[in-house]
Amino acid sequence: MNVIVVIGSQWGDEGKGKIVDLLSENVDIVVRYQGGANAGHTIFVNGKKFVLHLIPSGIIRNDILCVIGNGVVLDPHAFLNEISLLNENGINTNNRIKILPNTHIVLNYHKIIDTLNEEQNKIGTTGKGIGPTYTDKYARIGIRAIDLFNDEYLRSMISKNIQTKNALTKNLHTDSLFDYNQILEELFLVREKLKPYIVKNAAYVAELVRIGKNILLEGAQGTLLDVDYGTYPYVTSSNPTIGGAVTGSGISSRYISQIIGVAKAYTTRVGEGPFPTELKNEIGEKLRTEGNEFGATTGRPRRCGWLDLVALKYSTLINGFKSLSLTKLDVLSSFDEIKVCTHYKIDGELIDYFPIDIPTLNKVEPIYKTFKGWRKSIRGIKNFENLPNEAIEYIRFIEDYLSVNINIISTGYERDDTIIV
Ligand code: IMP
Repeated sequence: MNVIVVIGSQWGDEGKGKIVDLLSENVDIVVRYQGGANAGHTIFVNGKKFVLHLIPSGIIRNDILCVIGNGVVLDPHAFLNEISLLNENGINTNNRIKILPNTHIVLNYHKIIDTLNEEQNKIGTTGKGIGPTYTDKYARIGIRAIDLFNDEYLRSMISKNIQTKNALTKNLHTDSLFDYNQILEELFLVREKLKPYIVKNAAYVAELVRIGKNILLEGAQGTLLDVDYGTYPYVTSSNPTIGGAVTGSGISSRYISQIIGVAKAYTTRVGEGPFPTELKNEIGEKLRTEGNEFGATTGRPRRCGWLDLVALKYSTLINGFKSLSLTKLDVLSSFDEIKVCTHYKIDGELIDYFPIDIPTLNKVEPIYKTFKGWRKSIRGIKNFENLPNEAIEYIRFIEDYLSVNINIISTGYERDDTIIV
């Protein structure tokens, strides 16, 4: 039993990068199990900022092996760029990154179709080709890492894909037509660069866990963006939740020893979709400024609001969290009052479950409990007991409401701005 899973409990951007970096101190391997270059995991170490989109956050620590799991959709260009950037910043990536053979590849046409889809049906995606690549995966017409080396299959799949995708783009009155030869040429070039990273055995990680390696499974995005459990259709196209960790890495659930949720001390969301506790006022503005809430991948301003415990309880139930890591508590330090949503009111009735349909979610009125703010900096505090009483009260309330333990509290962006409880 040596596998830890780290999962976003809100709409992504909870600060998973920092938590994975902290928890990976004692692990041998970090595996990303879903999502793609839509993610942006930020880690600050000694004043240096690293933003990782595809490569697991364990890469920042020497000696950790990083695996891109089969649940990920991999954009080869984004992947290779990220490696160059890491190398330029003094991170040794030699022999430290592996890609599972059944990982699906994001092609240029996926990115173009993503953008075209947005014109027809706006979800507010990151434009990284995520939805269209997963669509092809489930339609059984995708290209996996291993398929790049099977010329006959690759040619036949690209040919079929080009026909349907060209027909689709023609329907959308665009002249972005895809060229068979050009796509193949590009893939032949890129596959040589990817080759050293791709392992042959889809049970590669399973084998490592069996021999006793300590593994951390790193989720991207968050539970409320999950294609099954999130605010569908305003979701991403993968499963950031616990099931995705198993299917996206090839590790049996019987090895999982800890499932840790990451929650921001307030709530943010990027893109379209319902957000019951959103604050479209100066308080929301203040959260955005104090928390520097701008997308790590797209730079878009994030929508901000108070902590939503109804949503967080749902996320806790779906994933089976016993522990939560609470991030960005410091951002609340300058507020006189801090609110948390404990119930929703719908048609005059109080509910404490998270409705799953958009019309209901758009209608709910959040009911808040108000806490007194602590009004002083908490950065650099190392012991839980040294936090201001008001902050302790806030944390204890969250723990009681959710029946979880808060195991890590982040009080600043640096690795050291952390309380291990
Ligand atoms: P996609 O994953 O690019 O298809 O985008 C679908 C939805 O998920 C959009 O609302 C995005 O803003 C959101 N999303 C995707 N990745 C992230 C992330 O890493 N953090 C926060 N939101 C994300």
